[in-house]
Amino acid sequence: MNYQSCYEQSLAQPAAFWAEQARQVAWYRAPTQILTPLADGTHEWFADGCLNTSYLALDHQIEQGRGEQTALAYDSPVSGSQQRFSFRQLRDEVARLAGWMRSLGVEKGDRVILYLPMIPQAAMAMLACARLGAVHSVVFGGFAANELAVRIDDAQPALILTASCGLEFDRVVPYKPLLDKALELARHKPAHVGVWQRPKLAASLVPGRDLDWQREVADAQPVAPVELASGDPLYIMYTSGTTGRPKGIVRDNGGHAVAMRFALEQVYGMQAGDVWWGISDVGWVVGHSLIVYGPLMAGCTSVMYEGKPVRTPDAGTYWRIVEQYRVNALFCAPTAMRAIRKEDPDGVLLCRHDLSSLRCLYLAGEKLDSSTHAWLQDMTGKPVHDHWWQTETGWPVTAPCARLEGSGARAGSSNRAVPGYAVRVMDEEGRPQGAGQQGDIVIGLPLPPGCCQTLWRDHERYLQAYLRTYPGYYQTGDGGYLDDDGFVYIMGRTDDVINVAGHRLSTGEMEDLVAAHPAVAECAVFGVHDEIKGQVPLALVVVKDDARIQAAQLQSELVAQVREHIGALACLRRVEVVKRLPKTRSGKILRAVLRKIADHEVFAPPSTLDDPAILDEIAQVLDVH
Ligand code: COA
Ligand code: AMP
Repeated sequence: MNYQSCYEQSLAQPAAFWAEQARQVAWYRAPTQILTPLADGTHEWFADGCLNTSYLALDHQIEQGRGEQTALAYDSPVSGSQQRFSFRQLRDEVARLAGWMRSLGVEKGDRVILYLPMIPQAAMAMLACARLGAVHSVVFGGFAANELAVRIDDAQPALILTASCGLEFDRVVPYKPLLDKALELARHKPAHVGVWQRPKLAASLVPGRDLDWQREVADAQPVAPVELASGDPLYIMYTSGTTGRPKGIVRDNGGHAVAMRFALEQVYGMQAGDVWWGISDVGWVVGHSLIVYGPLMAGCTSVMYEGKPVRTPDAGTYWRIVEQYRVNALFCAPTAMRAIRKEDPDGVLLCRHDLSSLRCLYLAGEKLDSSTHAWLQDMTGKPVHDHWWQTETGWPVTAPCARLEGSGARAGSSNRAVPGYAVRVMDEEGRPQGAGQQGDIVIGLPLPPGCCQTLWRDHERYLQAYLRTYPGYYQTGDGGYLDDDGFVYIMGRTDDVINVAGHRLSTGEMEDLVAAHPAVAECAVFGVHDEIKGQVPLALVVVKDDARIQAAQLQSELVAQVREHIGALACLRRVEVVKRLPKTRSGKILRAVLRKIADHEVFAPPSTLDDPAILDEIAQVLDVH
């Protein structure tokens, strides 16, 4: 297929285009209503279709003769274990787990929170929920109890599944006490908590509420997949917005199944039997689309890795895995490659491994800087592609499409729009921008299948956050431009979201926490450049006149406060006390200017600034001259 004609058809006749793609999916009842526009500007895909995602990922693969093929290859240098599950073994595990969940009263539409590390049970739990039609919400293990409690209260789960611990390269992270604390904080109390006990650390169980997962599932009866409507939710994935309240991104079953199939085959060029490695965590959207659902629904072997790019045990780990599992293509975040490059700049460890199975590397989650891009391409001798997507879309918005001729790839850009996505650039007044002109990146409606069409229990917030600013378009929250050939360049978020080591975080939330300290009069938290993590937060605080606290004490209290409330992954390590903050005459803190000072960027002081001398004061505190 040719990229240009495919892309044009996807925009000119979206219903016909996606009806064709939907034929690749093994529905229980194939849809006849392909695209239904709703009055509020959102759309429903495949309204009368019926299917089950767990069936597509497991049972259907067995029916296609892949029962003995490895579905999930788990590799965990932090625990010293490796395990392989064939499609049949994985289906049997999932069916029994679903049976146990049903015996606890979990049914279609119920929510189940999964607070789990990167162990096979996390994938099994997701698939077991999908089998029952229960809606899972995976919470990343690096989040603190408070963040977990917020998600528990929003999702109101019937059941929570967790493990006794997670394993970082240097320490054991006890999950259960974090969950116990979250349940104390949360108003909503689920009837049961299932605990997977890991050998490194046993968790104590609260009688009556907590159940031993291993023991209970051993006696459970397997259950068959439940028939679901296309629009029934598969999962909720909470992601940072501009406020402290995360957004519950809702993924449907039908649109997602069609989108995953299209993405794995047409974008990533994978076919059944190939080995795919999505290097992420099940706590992020990439973990959902590219560790669990996408590769399995495409009949691929999916590698699931519990470890870091470095220090588990060294910067050669990724290449060892590529060689050992004969990985054909992988996804990872640029931050991981920067970490590897720092420790193995000349590829000494890389050269020890046979990478001949690898066809291509895909990077996303943050901008791929050109130096890392060139290094990776040189070292591996393979094509390295930047591509761009978000939790909201669930699959790539821009990417080179492996199976579409002429889709092209351009270093420095996150590449062209994938079929289905009408990517445009607008200025603040909603005027379309020409090639090379920067503005807000938007996507013309309808969004293609798989993209989020509502927020969990808050449709109004969805409309407000994404559809109202530019009528007829979805606002991505990213700024950038397109070049003459339609290649897209992402310049960064236009809101308070920052990206720390590929993790999306809200500076607004950190600011609320810092501002809540009794000694703080006002503050600004913003993202600054970091060599490895891309961005890290930096807080500037103005102390109250009557506060009796040393700067060092305040700094360590604020760092601890953010870690305690959001989690270690927030990485707020630097807090500086300043006399005042630069503001516009109307009192708005100029965060963008602060970021430029901290990043040594050249800029013209805005004319709206009340007193330009403040900028020199700040530069001195930040030691920027
Ligand atoms: N559970 C508990 N704690 C976690 C955690 C988890 N799942 N993940 C991270 N943390 C903790 C870390 O232990 C660390 O704690 P510390 O401050 O006490 O050291 C903190 O959160 C920050 O972690 P991280 O951002 O991972 O920093 P790092 O210095 O340990 O590692 C990298 C740096 C670049 C190696 C690492 O960030 C990385 O592998 N990034 C890739 C992430 C990725 O693949 N993202 C894909 C998203 S699509
Ligand atoms: P998340 O929802 O956590 O996947 O984060 C999505 C955000 O990460 C996007 O809105 C972008 O800001 C950023 N992002 C993802 N991929 C890229 C990329 N290839 N280049 C630049 N930014 C990216």
